[in-house]
Amino acid sequence: TGHTTLDYGFVNTAATKSAITFIDGDQGILRYRGYPIEQLAKNSTYLEVAWLLIYGELPTADELSAFDERIRRHTLLHEDLKRFFSALPHTAHPMSVLSAATAALSTYYENESDPHNPEHVELNTVRMLAKLPVIAAYAHKKSVGQAFLYPDNSLGFVDNFLKLNFGVLSEDYDVNAVMSRALERLLILHEDHEQNASTSTVRLVGSTGANQFSSISAGINALYGPLHGGANEAVLDMLGRIRDSGESVERFVERVKNKEDGVKLMGFGHRVYKNYDPRAKLVKESADEVLEALGVSDPLLDLAKELEEIALSDDYFKERRLYPNVDFYTGVIYKAMGFPTRMFTVLFAIGRLPGWLAHWREMQGDAQTKIGRPQQLYTGATERQYPGV
Ligand code: CMC
Repeated sequence: TGHTTLDYGFVNTAATKSAITFIDGDQGILRYRGYPIEQLAKNSTYLEVAWLLIYGELPTADELSAFDERIRRHTLLHEDLKRFFSALPHTAHPMSVLSAATAALSTYYENESDPHNPEHVELNTVRMLAKLPVIAAYAHKKSVGQAFLYPDNSLGFVDNFLKLNFGVLSEDYDVNAVMSRALERLLILHEDHEQNASTSTVRLVGSTGANQFSSISAGINALYGPLHGGANEAVLDMLGRIRDSGESVERFVERVKNKEDGVKLMGFGHRVYKNYDPRAKLVKESADEVLEALGVSDPLLDLAKELEEIALSDDYFKERRLYPNVDFYTGVIYKAMGFPTRMFTVLFAIGRLPGWLAHWREMQGDAQTKIGRPQQLYTGATERQYPGV
């Protein structure tokens, strides 16, 4: 107050301190709790990284297995909540279904959702980690008109998720180990990214005293937009449009540079990374590997590589320091796994969930937290009289 500065998009303003994730955008460094993303992606698991983000240290073997066990015990959705999906059209975008069902989850735990009660916070951390993948898989099943499966709690986190998505009632489902490890790796790469738009949304909503379910449902809605998590879906749509139109990649890049119809090169550019996105580097490395191991060849991957090469040698992109971001190659891999395009951002949401939970909890535990309330610079009319007064 008294010192309001205008900062569209919060380019210069920190709204919090945080000890969770470190990014150096000039050097392309990303670390969770000090551990380089490259090491975690190679050696860790989704749940181990979730624990690391939430509690600050890597879990011991006992802590990790107890955490995993606890999550497996909470995967079931109330049968009434399963019927909630029938109220939505089968054409519904799975991201809308995901956020709506997450908000609805809150209604089942109204007496156990006090942000100041540590037991509630622990319980709902586990509930969210256990149930979001199930909701996500049901959003998928609904969109393809198939029956929902019950979680198979003999399986680990990622394998259970794959079975819920691709298993069919009354048939055995064998998890493909290559697919499982590849998905686990992609999820790890998405687990946190400090104060991005969806995490800031979770914090802002949480700063009002709203519970975890409500805060995360809001985060899912923020992630849905094409400039954020929705970019992975938008990349695949863009590649498909280029292929189907027969337009050359050069011509498409020209249109991007001329800002014709506001067209952007989706999957390029980042607010923070100005030399490269370390996640994109890891995803690109695994794209060829995973497609080959799954026995899939996809001309869209070649198109993406051609697009990247042409863009990277072009002054427009060089001057603006625009490089492929995490979303540029993920879609091609998700597609090879068999996920429909509209599930891509849902996969991002499952990846980002541990980060959202960690930030929500960090904020609650920070004595300096206040309700988030940006300032404005008023540009409207000065006082005037209502006619006849
Ligand atoms: N294609 C063409 N031009 C671009 C692009 C792009 N993808 N990204 C930025 N620019 C241009 C932009 O038009 C501007 O040019 P000028 O100075 O002539 O007006 C300049 O580069 C600076 O861009 P900006 O919009 O000021 O940058 P920002 O930090 O506000 O936006 C961004 C970052 C990620 C929203 C943006 O780069 C973008 O829209 N990219 C495409 C969408 C995308 O891939 N999003 C995923 C982000 S990574 C994963 C995630 O967080 O979800």
